[in-house]
Order: sequence, then C-alpha cells, then structure tokens
Amino acid sequence: MHIDIITVVPGLLEGPFAHSILKRAEDKGLASIRVINLRDYSTSKQKQVDDYAFGGGAGMVMSIEPIARCIEALQKERTYDEIIYMTPDGARFDQPMANALSLNQNLLILCGHYKGVDERVRERFITKEISIGDYVLSGGELAAAVVADALIRLIPGVLNDETSALTDSFQDGLLAPPVYTRPAEYDGMKVPEVLLSGHEAKINEWRFEASVRRTHERRPDLLRDNQPGKSDAESYKK
Ligand code: ADE
Repeated sequence: MHIDIITVVPGLLEGPFAHSILKRAEDKGLASIRVINLRDYSTSKQKQVDDYAFGGGAGMVMSIEPIARCIEALQKERTYDEIIYMTPDGARFDQPMANALSLNQNLLILCGHYKGVDERVRERFITKEISIGDYVLSGGELAAAVVADALIRLIPGVLNDETSALTDSFQDGLLAPPVYTRPAEYDGMKVPEVLLSGHEAKINEWRFEASVRRTHERRPDLLRDNQPGKSDAESYKK
C-alpha cells in the first residue's frame, strides 16, 4: 500500500511515521508513506495556500489552485483508488471502513486546515471524506495519521502476530476481552484461573463471554446492531 498525504504542516506527520508500526511496515516494504508539502505547489512568493472567504467571516479558506496543481502532479505518477479529505463533516471512521480501505493499493489524503478547503476541491477531486470523531482538530494531519495507522496495521505481515489484528476490539463488533501477563498473582490480584489452564476451548469460551460482558457494560450500542453467535468464540484464539 502506498499513501500520499498532502499537508501545510509536514512536521506534524514526521513523528508518527518515523516510529512504531508504520516505520516497521515501511522497513519491511509492505507500506510506504510520503508527506507532500502543499506550499511547494504555491506560485506566490510567500508560498500562500489560503485566502479570505468570499462573503466574509472569520478564518481563511484553502485555495483550489495549489491543491489542484499538487493533486494533478501526483496523479501523473499513480492512479489513486481513493482521494480522501480529512474533515469533521466527513463519514465517521470505524473498523469496517478501515478494513475496506486497507484493501487499496494507492491512497491520497488531503489534510484540511483553517476553515477548510474551497468547496470546489471537494467536488472536483475528493472521492471520500472522513472524520475521526465529532470534535474539531486544528487540522487534518493527526486524523490522517490515525487513519494511516489503522489501515497499515491490517496489512498482512505488518504485525508480528499475524492473527492479532483479527482479534482486536471491533473486528467482530465486540470489544476485546481483558488480557493478563506474568506474574499470575500481584499483591493479591489473581489472573482468572481458566487462562492458566492450557485448555484452549475453555479459554476461547471465557474470552468470548468476557468480551460480550465488557461490550454490554461499556458499549451496549454495539450489541444492538450486532448479534454475536457462539461461533464467534472461535475468533478468541490469541
Ligand atoms: N479535521 C479537523 N477535525 C477533524 C476530524 N474530527 N476528523 C477528521 N479531520 C478533521
């Protein structure tokens, strides 16, 4: 998978992509991410990429011309499966959307800033608009990093344990069960006996039930749309 990200603040994306799983995916040759500075496509001396809003009002609007020049230049190099605009009025990002997007080869993500982009950018170039939640960030960069992380960790081979992305919270519409590691007892707090039993079927059953209980307590809205069956217990092999 290749992801190009267009931004006016490239520095904001350096940290997330230089570390963690994204770096590992790049090192393994499974994913590549390129950060593109929109100001490189400005023709003004001050490298301006925004302007006052027609009709007045506070806040600047990102202009169509530098964005169009940038996207058209990138499109000469590759065909994008989706051109995504990060915006609080986009479709809410969730695990099914991450799963679907992770199947793509080439993605282009445009990060909004200021009051957003000229509406004509959205009409002309954007194929998908994504919000990571009902709150407003000061730009789309952190949201783009969230989306890139959620997609890249799903690519087979990126995670050390190949199956672990399948048992994440939300993958089957349930929250993940509690997990424990050594010591088996800490200051009187014991790990549930069944997890020490070595009995795989019982462990899966316990994890499934713990998962349903946790989802019921914390996110009952997930259970309303989803009726997990007993067979889902099979997916709790960690
Ligand atoms: N840009 C600003 N806020 C955002 C959000 N919640 N999701 C995606 N992009 C954004």
